[in-house]
Amino acid sequence: MNRLRIMVLSLLTLVTVLLVVACNTQQQTPSPQPPPSPATQIANMTATYVGEQTCQSCHQKANYDKTPHFQSFKPLSAYKLDKTYGTITVYDGAGDESKSTSVDLSKALGVEMDTYVVAEIPKTAGFAKQFYRVGKLAKNPDGTYKIDSAGLVTGTQNWAAEDYSCAKCHSPGMGGGGTPDYTITCEACHGPGSAHVAATTNEQKKATMVSPTSETCLKCHISDPTKDTKTGAIITANHYGTRDYTFSKHNTTGMINGCLTCHGVHGTNATGRLLKKDNTNDICATCHAGKNYDVKTIMWDNKSDPRGHITADHSFTAIPESATKVNPTTKNVEIVDPTVLDMVKKALPALAK
Ligand code: HEC
Ligand code: HEC
Ligand code: HEC
Ligand code: HEC
Ligand code: HEC
Ligand code: HEC
Repeated sequence: MNRLRIMVLSLLTLVTVLLVVACNTQQQTPSPQPPPSPATQIANMTATYVGEQTCQSCHQKANYDKTPHFQSFKPLSAYKLDKTYGTITVYDGAGDESKSTSVDLSKALGVEMDTYVVAEIPKTAGFAKQFYRVGKLAKNPDGTYKIDSAGLVTGTQNWAAEDYSCAKCHSPGMGGGGTPDYTITCEACHGPGSAHVAATTNEQKKATMVSPTSETCLKCHISDPTKDTKTGAIITANHYGTRDYTFSKHNTTGMINGCLTCHGVHGTNATGRLLKKDNTNDICATCHAGKNYDVKTIMWDNKSDPRGHITADHSFTAIPESATKVNPTTKNVEIVDPTVLDMVKKALPALAK
């Protein structure tokens, strides 16, 4: 017993002495910390935006600039204006409109969806937000564009700048670190890429880049009615309307892999759409051999949309057009058929309350 105790004690003393010596030596001649491996450096890096052109310099996606995603935000110079617009005064539409500032339209960041002129408001103006829709494009009969106010200040004809909360989906990089694009490009789906660009080996390249899935699409193409309905009514119209996909057999059977089964996103098909084949029926036929679906009828358009642009129904007959009705008060397409309502409520109990 005693011998063991002595042995342990002397061992402890030895360790302590060694430690002290080691520490002292280190203090006297500090050996330089080994530099972190490149992989660690990259892992520690907070990725910032590098911009689509940088991605394209290694991964050429030839047709990308033709995609509706890329085209959804353009510089003002892409539009032929009817006159030169200089500096205008705008009021803070995201605040109480008591503050105003002047904005040089020629320095605007660009135009969202061929409509809204977006600009950054300098901090010194004291506005509630940083990015605003400062004007609205309107097409003249001769094809040129005029810039109108995006909104009027209550009770006056002055221009109110409207909050660009739209950026979340329409310009997700705006205001981000690095050199973000203002439109929807590579990094909107793949995430900021600086760490990926800095990576030196293929392994690191893979580790620093996400491969997006349908979940990525749904960040903007919200398809869960429980998340985007304000009233609790089951309305098929909102401007990000692929939500009926939730009810489709495609989704509920889990037998097909979401949006990317039919959509391609790195370029357009021959008709300028983000579809995998030029002829839509050829996509369906890869699984529904022999069926000649009338896609235009199955994927009915939301009639209440003034541009006829949105909500091609994605329920693939789970919600037939006949089960809906345009609600004149909301101008939305509301589901009224009791059988369909039952089906929908079963699928989404949160709406059934
Ligand atoms: C300097 C060249 C370079 C740049 C710039 C670059 N990449 Fe890459 N990227 C690579 C290489 C190399 C690989 C690995 C290829 C391999 O091994 O399959 C890769 C792989 C990828 C992958 C596949 C990842 C995986 O898990 O297989 C994606 C997606 C990707 N890059 C997207 C991007 C995006 C988006 C950008 C812009 C933010 C970008 N890349 C910029 C060189 C680059
Ligand atoms: C949650 C994401 C999201 C937000 C926030 C958002 N949008 Fe959209 N927007 C979309 C998507 C997705 C589409 C494409 C819909 C489609 O083609 O089915 C779209 C389409 C549009 C269109 C063309 C369709 C139409 O309604 O005529 C316009 C214009 C538009 N958005 C303007 C705006 C404005 C202005 C704002 C801010 C007030 C905004 N959006 C906020 C996701 C969003
Ligand atoms: C709308 C979302 C979206 C955008 C925008 C986007 N990607 Fe992708 N990317 C995806 C998805 C989803 C995948 C994986 C599935 C696939 O292969 O289509 C992918 C895969 C990739 C891959 C690996 C496989 C391949 O196709 O080479 C590379 C590299 C890539 N993307 C680069 C880019 C670049 C460069 C851009 C911009 C020019 C870009 N992506 C824009 C969604 C997107
Ligand atoms: C950052 C937000 C965002 C993400 C992420 C996103 N989209 Fe979009 N998408 C939009 C907006 C905004 C539009 C409207 C653009 C326009 O009409 O010019 C749009 C338009 C589209 C269109 C209609 C284009 C056409 O052919 O008329 C399709 C299809 C589409 N997106 C599919 C996808 C798919 C698939 C994914 C996922 C791989 C995806 N989107 C990811 C915002 C997004
Ligand atoms: C089974 C195939 C298929 C699947 C799965 C699918 N789509 Fe589509 N989508 C289409 C077809 C076909 C069109 C074109 C309809 C038309 O021409 O009217 C389309 C059109 C669109 C449009 C443009 C709407 C319009 O009216 O112009 C958007 C946006 C879109 N899809 C997004 C998505 C998203 C997001 C997902 C995943 C939740 C998805 N789609 C899943 C086949 C599909
Ligand atoms: C990747 C394979 C695949 C593709 C591509 C595909 N579908 Fe489907 N579709 C399915 C599966 C799986 C089901 C569920 C089958 C079932 O429940 O019997 C289904 C169900 C359907 C249904 C419901 C049928 C019913 O009896 O209720 C319709 C309608 C439909 N698809 C239309 C389309 C259209 C239109 C397209 C092309 C735009 C398309 N599908 C593309 C696999 C696919």
